[in-house]
Amino acid sequence: MDKFILDACCGGRMFWENKKYPNAIFQDIRKDVLPLKEKYKINFSVEPDVIGDYRNMDFKDKSFKLVIFDPPHLLLNKTAWMAKKYGTIKGTDYKADMKKGFSECWRVLDDFGTLIFKWNDNFVSIKEIRPLFPAQPIIFNKIGTKGKTTWWFVFLKIPTKLNSEGKFFSSQA
Ligand SMILES: C[S@@+](CC[C@H](N)C(=O)[O-])C[C@H]1O[C@@H](n2cnc3c(N)ncnc32)[C@H](O)[C@@H]1O
Repeated sequence: MDKFILDACCGGRMFWENKKYPNAIFQDIRKDVLPLKEKYKINFSVEPDVIGDYRNMDFKDKSFKLVIFDPPHLLLNKTAWMAKKYGTIKGTDYKADMKKGFSECWRVLDDFGTLIFKWNDNFVSIKEIRPLFPAQPIIFNKIGTKGKTTWWFVFLKIPTKLNSEGKFFSSQA
């Protein structure tokens, strides 16, 4: 009951203020202690609490108040060190994977819960990703110039009965 935050693909937890936040479950598809410290002087490893796949998660419906979704966005060969660090979508059906990921993040999110999604458009434009969203975002922010922009989106899971559009958030609710 005290684990009401899910980081669905935590990687090295780099954007976490507290990398051992006690109310969070950190999930990733891999455990990887990379030799980056020696080679690049970077202290980095992927050590999730749960090895899991955001396309098919082993959590009950509505388990979390906050879900964080920061999937791979790089189109780089698996051998590139950035791909080792952040994962890659090269050679994958990434749109299908992300659609499943969004659907699963939405399923495990409680009513009135928040989903945070991060995307960097240096390889794939946000225009291609928007149609995969589970709902209309409440707010967004973009940092950086075109083609090097990091986007942040905040979604709120409004129960369908309060959602006059049946799909998207309505301020008339
Ligand atoms: C952009 S990184 C996350 C970075 C992280 N937010 C941070 O602060 O360091 C994306 C992560 O998604 C993981 N990943 C890729 N496919 C996945 C899947 N199907 N399920 C869960 N995690 C996945 C990768 O292993 C990688 O660590």
